[in-house]
Amino acid sequence: MRLLTAAATTLALTLGAQFAAAAPIELKFSHVVAENTPKGQMALKFRDLVAERMGDKVEVKVFPNSQLFGDNKVLEAMLLGDVQMAAPSLSKFQKYTKSLQVFDLPFLFKDMEAVERFQQSDKGQELLNSLRKRGLVGLGYLHNGMKQLSANDPLRVPADAAGKKFRIMTSDVLQAQFEQVDAVPLKKPFSEVFTLLQTKAIDGAENPWSNIYSKKFHEVQPYITETNHGVLDYLVVTSAEFWNGLDDDVRAELKKALDESIAYGNSISG
Ligand code: SIN
Repeated sequence: MRLLTAAATTLALTLGAQFAAAAPIELKFSHVVAENTPKGQMALKFRDLVAERMGDKVEVKVFPNSQLFGDNKVLEAMLLGDVQMAAPSLSKFQKYTKSLQVFDLPFLFKDMEAVERFQQSDKGQELLNSLRKRGLVGLGYLHNGMKQLSANDPLRVPADAAGKKFRIMTSDVLQAQFEQVDAVPLKKPFSEVFTLLQTKAIDGAENPWSNIYSKKFHEVQPYITETNHGVLDYLVVTSAEFWNGLDDDVRAELKKALDESIAYGNSISG
């Protein structure tokens, strides 16, 4: 009887181990925007392609609208293994690298074609590796679009911004731009922008069209000036520990699905 119990226990443990080994790897993708945006759609496409092609190996779970982490926390969380993928704006990496700050320079890119050309150039591709020393891997750029300025009053010339409070992302280069026109820049999380505008705690903000529309900022900002003064694009990022810990074939399949999802996101971006 004891022999039988031991055999049954061994069998259960073996089956249990096999079952555990077969469970798909969970890949949490956290972002802060709505689902009806280029990034929201790109993340859902990635989830669906992975489910279709390798659902037995990896399960992608997408958390939009800052449900899991805001962009100011997500990279820390990634390094702790609490989230595996994100695509913060290129303006939100300055704690980890100064190199990506080039994207925040005003009027550097004439249009999104110019942004795309730079990102695909040798220098642009080299910048994907600028986070390696910090344990993060840049997997690709994703477009959103050029930024526009919205405010409670019309902004016709730069002097109209003087004395007004604008929400900006966590970037010293963006801060310097607003200070240059005597405006008051405030670094605030994206999740707070609507309320800040609605309560008039701030006067204005800079956003690409898809973020303005999907978060209804136009409902609380009577004026929008089409300035195209800078770009808001993303870096899809993961942790080196997670990425390098994957089997080669799984990593390659994931990268392929991600590249296709990014191409799709770019095709619907502004
Ligand atoms: C985003 O598009 O991911 C948000 C950008 C912002 O914080 O303004």
